[in-house]
Amino acid sequence: MKFNKSIIEIIKERTSRRTYDAKLLDEKSREYIKELLLLKDIRSPFSEYVGKCRFELIAIPEFDPKEKKKLGTYGLILGAQEFIVGAIERSEYAREHFGYMMEYLILVATDMGLGTCWLGGTFNRGLFRSKINCKPDEIMPAITPIGSFPEKRRTKEKVIRKVIKADKRFPWERLFFKDDFNNPLNQDDVKKHTILLEMVRLGPSAGNKQPWRIVKDSNKDIFHFYILEVTGRYKPFPPLDIGISVCHWDLTAEELGIKGKWKISKPKIPSEGFEYKISWIEE
Ligand SMILES: Cc1cc2nc3c(=O)[nH]c(=O)nc-3n(C[C@H](O)[C@H](O)[C@H](O)COP(=O)(O)O)c2cc1C
Repeated sequence: MKFNKSIIEIIKERTSRRTYDAKLLDEKSREYIKELLLLKDIRSPFSEYVGKCRFELIAIPEFDPKEKKKLGTYGLILGAQEFIVGAIERSEYAREHFGYMMEYLILVATDMGLGTCWLGGTFNRGLFRSKINCKPDEIMPAITPIGSFPEKRRTKEKVIRKVIKADKRFPWERLFFKDDFNNPLNQDDVKKHTILLEMVRLGPSAGNKQPWRIVKDSNKDIFHFYILEVTGRYKPFPPLDIGISVCHWDLTAEELGIKGKWKISKPKIPSEGFEYKISWIEE
């Protein structure tokens, strides 16, 4: 694994940064990240279902105020000079896979002490697509700025966080269930899996909507991952959010030596309003 600290600590430490020091990455960090973006040995449980997924580190090189204006980050992001930009071939699980891979990269960046912020909506997609020569069959689900950041958040950033309640997460009973969506899962119902669920709960999600839901089989250590169905402008995001949650679960289980396998099956759980994605089965 490409982490120096405990993944649990890194997940707890990660937070969206929307203010950056206006400077480029140092050469060593840039080389390290470029190597990482080759995605050697990084796989997700969705890898076998998707086509090519690629990431590039781009500087908005000109340091040109006109170019900056075109970024489309609408003053939400300040000072960022470099971005991780990714694209993936269109397919059924493309967004879930992309979510996993990009979160992996973000966790490595966090481990390096760098700031990031998932941007799925507030950026000029056309500009960033042209920067990495996106083909028509590729989608660009999200990008992230990457760089060092000042210790204190600026006022506008604090306001944004307050509006979307970025520091809060739903309690267990809204997210995790036993056998079906009518029975909330208690912490007493799980033992070593508590920390895995908690790492899912701490994950970032678009608009902090936290659309991940997990149903545990009460007789076996099988956990089914669902997303809350959403409509409107948030529709493209829950598949990314679930990819992030699967990444957190997967990396934490690996760190703790909890062995399991991922399987896409069709659990017989009434799930109106929810969309099934994938299950984890302890081995
Ligand atoms: C898939 C995804 C898309 C996001 N898109 C944006 C965005 O377009 N603009 C933005 O300012 N934040 C965006 N965010 C950041 C979320 O608002 C943030 O993760 C959430 O509020 C929780 O805060 P935290 O990341 O500090 O824990 C996105 C997050 C995710 C996971």
